[in-house]
Amino acid sequence: INPFYQRHFLRLMDFTPAELQALLQLAADLKQAKKQGRETRRLQGKNIALIFEKDSTRTRCAFEVAAFDQGAQVTYLGPSGSQIGHKESMKDTARVLGRMYDGIQYRGYGQPLVETLAHYAGVPVWNGLTDEFHPTQLLADLLTVQEHLPGKPLSAVKFAYLGDARNNMGNTLLEAAALTGMDLRLVAPKACWPQAELVAECQALAERQGGKITLTEDIAVGVKDADFLYTDVWVSMGEPKEVWQERIALLKPYQVNMAMLRQTGNPQVKFLHCLPAFHDDQTTLGKQMAEQYGLYGGMEVTDEVFESPHSIVFDQAENRLHTIKAVMVATLSREG
Ligand code: CP
Ligand code: NVA
Repeated sequence: INPFYQRHFLRLMDFTPAELQALLQLAADLKQAKKQGRETRRLQGKNIALIFEKDSTRTRCAFEVAAFDQGAQVTYLGPSGSQIGHKESMKDTARVLGRMYDGIQYRGYGQPLVETLAHYAGVPVWNGLTDEFHPTQLLADLLTVQEHLPGKPLSAVKFAYLGDARNNMGNTLLEAAALTGMDLRLVAPKACWPQAELVAECQALAERQGGKITLTEDIAVGVKDADFLYTDVWVSMGEPKEVWQERIALLKPYQVNMAMLRQTGNPQVKFLHCLPAFHDDQTTLGKQMAEQYGLYGGMEVTDEVFESPHSIVFDQAENRLHTIKAVMVATLSREG
């Protein structure tokens, strides 16, 4: 039996550094097998529930395509249309779905909800994003980093994240640095720094891996020699509309633009974003924000950077599929 069999994946630190590496290797193997047309179906006969209390494109599609590729069936439970939350508690939902499904994906609000689901379901539960963490995203991000710097261990990578470091991505990057020992800089105004307790915990673990986690307001210091610049939306799903104005004022200096890329001093620097990104005004919300705040040509990242050869965001998006497939194969198939 493989060591991941029947385990939950609620946050990155559910795994050890070696287990994280093994999952990334499995994802790389599955990716290659699919590309070479020799994928074998290890999840035949499995049924998977996908609970989404928040919207999704990548995560939902990655779980669905990964399941189909591996011979499993899925049921999508969206933000409305089921009893979850309104008429039925997570505890009861967990015990019902656990009787029918082999694995459950949950995207929603507080981390305690996915923990309750995991506690009562009796089958593996995977966190597809909560307010606090986005662990499957980090698997795709790390695989993408490895692919773009082949031969370089993650512990040698310099990685700067700019923007709202107090959100699910900031927190999960901290855990990633703790497990890989990469040189992580969270570059943000103090008001957007993650909770001190999580920072301290991850810093201590990172040092044991030979790594370093830096929190700084200073952009020049934060991006110096960076291999990767990463950003995320300034206001996350579930946050009230009222925070936009304050957040934009706070984070405007942290926009990833061409001048910042040059500031790294690394002509090969790559740009990452979990997506969706506000880089143009081609969406209803993007257009509204551009007009309201005069942010034409991008918000957290300029359209120029997003569309430049530095940008590897679609490699990253594709890797959601291969890494999520690895999570399901590892936790649901006895052989892994
Ligand atoms: N990056 C990500 O989780 O995208 P979705 O919200 O589209 O799933
Ligand atoms: N921080 C973002 C991530 C989206 C993938 C959010 O929670 O909305």
